[in-house]
Parts: sequence; C-alpha cells; structure tokens
Amino acid sequence: MTNFQGRAALVTGASSGIGAATAVRLARLGCRVVLAARNRERLEEVRGRCEEVGGHARVVPTDVTEADQCRAAVETAIAHFGRLDIVVSCAGLSLRGYFDGTDLAAMERVMRVNFFGTLYMTQFALPHVKRSRGSLVAVTSLVGKRATPAYALYGASKFAVQGLYEALHIELKHDGVHVGVVAPAFVDTPLRRNALGPDGRPAPERPPEAFRIWPVDMCVDCIIKVIAKRKREALLPWFARPLLLIDQLLDRRLGDRILDRRFPPEREKRQAGGD
Ligand SMILES: NC(=O)c1ccc[n+]([C@@H]2O[C@H](COP(=O)([O-])OP(=O)(O)OC[C@H]3O[C@@H](n4cnc5c(N)ncnc54)[C@H](OP(=O)(O)O)[C@@H]3O)[C@@H](O)[C@H]2O)c1
Repeated sequence: MTNFQGRAALVTGASSGIGAATAVRLARLGCRVVLAARNRERLEEVRGRCEEVGGHARVVPTDVTEADQCRAAVETAIAHFGRLDIVVSCAGLSLRGYFDGTDLAAMERVMRVNFFGTLYMTQFALPHVKRSRGSLVAVTSLVGKRATPAYALYGASKFAVQGLYEALHIELKHDGVHVGVVAPAFVDTPLRRNALGPDGRPAPERPPEAFRIWPVDMCVDCIIKVIAKRKREALLPWFARPLLLIDQLLDRRLGDRILDRRFPPEREKRQAGGD
C-alpha cells in the first residue's frame, strides 16, 4: 500500500478535468505535485486549489508533444522536490469521426498527444521512479479496450498506451516500479466538447448522447486506488469488465452490432456536414 505523505508526483493534463482533480487529490493526500499542461493560467488556478487543501504544487507549462518540455517538467520535479515517486499521464485529446475522411494531420496530432506525450514523460521520469520504486499511471479509455466506430483513431492511441503500459508492467516489476492503467467510460469533463472533428478542427456538433457520464471524482478514486494498491488496471465503471468478457465470449458480434447502431456512418457524415 502506497503512503502518499511526502511523495512527489507529476500530473500531465493538470489544467483541466481528470488531471486537475487528480492533482488536487494528491496534494490533499500529502504529495507535492508538479502540474504540467499548456495553459499556464488554468494551471495556476489548480495550484491555488492544491494550496487550499494544504498541499504544495509547482506549475510547469508543458506541451507533452515536445520531448524536451517533458524532460524539463521531470527536471523541475527533481530540482524542487528532490525526488519523483508518481507520474499520472492524463493529457489527452479526443477525435470523433470515421477514419474514412479524417484528416491525416489531425490523426497524427491525437497520436502525438495521447501516445507520444505519455511515452516521453514515462521515458524521462523512469530513472527517478525506479529510484523511488514508485508508480507510473496512464489514463486510457474504454475505447482503448474495445474498438468503437467513430473513435478509431482516438481508440488506437489509447490501445497503444495500454499496450505500452502492459509491457512495462511486466518489464519494470523487477525494478520495483508499479505500472498501472485507468480506463474510464465517459467522464464529466470538457474532453468531449473539445474533441476534434474529421477535419481536425474542434467538432462544432454535439457529441452523441452518452449512456452515462461518470463524475470526475469517481475517476480520481480509481486513479488513487490503482496507485495505493499498486494495481495493474481499473475500469470505470467496474461492470465494464464483465461486459467486455461477455463481448469476447460472443466473439464481439453482438457488441459490434450495438456499437454500429450507436455510432452509424450516416450520422457521422451528417455531423461532418454540420447539420
Ligand atoms: N472525459 C472522458 O470522458 C474521458 C474518458 C476516457 C478517457 N479520458 C482520458 O482522460 C484524460 C484526461 O481527459 P479529461 O477528460 O480530463 O479532458 P480535459 O478536461 O479536456 O483535459 C485534457 C487535458 O489534456 C491537456 N492537454 C491536451 N493537449 C496537451 C498537450 N499537447 N500538452 C500538454 N497537455 C495537453 C489539457 O491541457 P492544456 O490544454 O492546458 O494543454 C487538459 O489539461 C485524457 O487522456 C482522456 O483521453 C477521458
């Protein structure tokens, strides 16, 4: 069981949603936190919230698609806190649209934020997290566990992180490093509103109604549990796991049919046309 008191954590995507709430929770639990994302103003607000709960945080404006900036964020943690125990990679960007017709540059951008952003931070943090026998945690998605139409590229970026972290879970066990993943369904954050459309611009259309949108705090609970208990994975909601198992047992045929109806190409084309 990890004790958070006195540990040093680095959270990417800390300016909004899940990353911001995770940073504040870690601060409340006694961690000193490096807050990494691009928007300095919003990071400063989160730093204020960390201090309100009695914690200590440092703002490091970081674009996770730039390897040098990820290295600098890690170096700031070491320079100010002398150690790095926990890295939570939350920075993410969604893209909604059928693959056929989606702009190549938009797909590359999503991959750079979601996959390479996590990879760079993991690479630079690793020597320090090894020293502290700490934790590396990435926030993926249920669409990184189960292929979903209209989320082909976003899902692929999350499958990539899932694959990377599953391998690291095995490789780094020998070094005493815990590696875990949290894969949520829809969570109540601005992510869906900010999703890119097939043309690479913020999708102006309303996203399809979600079956249910889960509170941010429930997602943070999962992240904290994964770190505290050094678990390899948590899904939100928990019942996604039995559903995924049933889906596999049925050879994914029923699941494909349900998802195909829920995210049909016609609707996507209408949305791309801006109706
Ligand atoms: N909300 C959901 O329904 C949901 C479901 C499953 C998985 N997730 C995953 O959860 C994670 C957190 O998302 P969220 O829901 O909290 O969304 P959010 O509120 O939109 O936050 C996204 C965060 O990513 C940061 N970010 C984006 N591009 C970046 C870049 N190039 N460099 C550094 N930071 C960058 C943003 O900060 P700046 O703009 O300041 O850089 C922001 O802090 C993401 O990985 C997302 O894919 C979310």
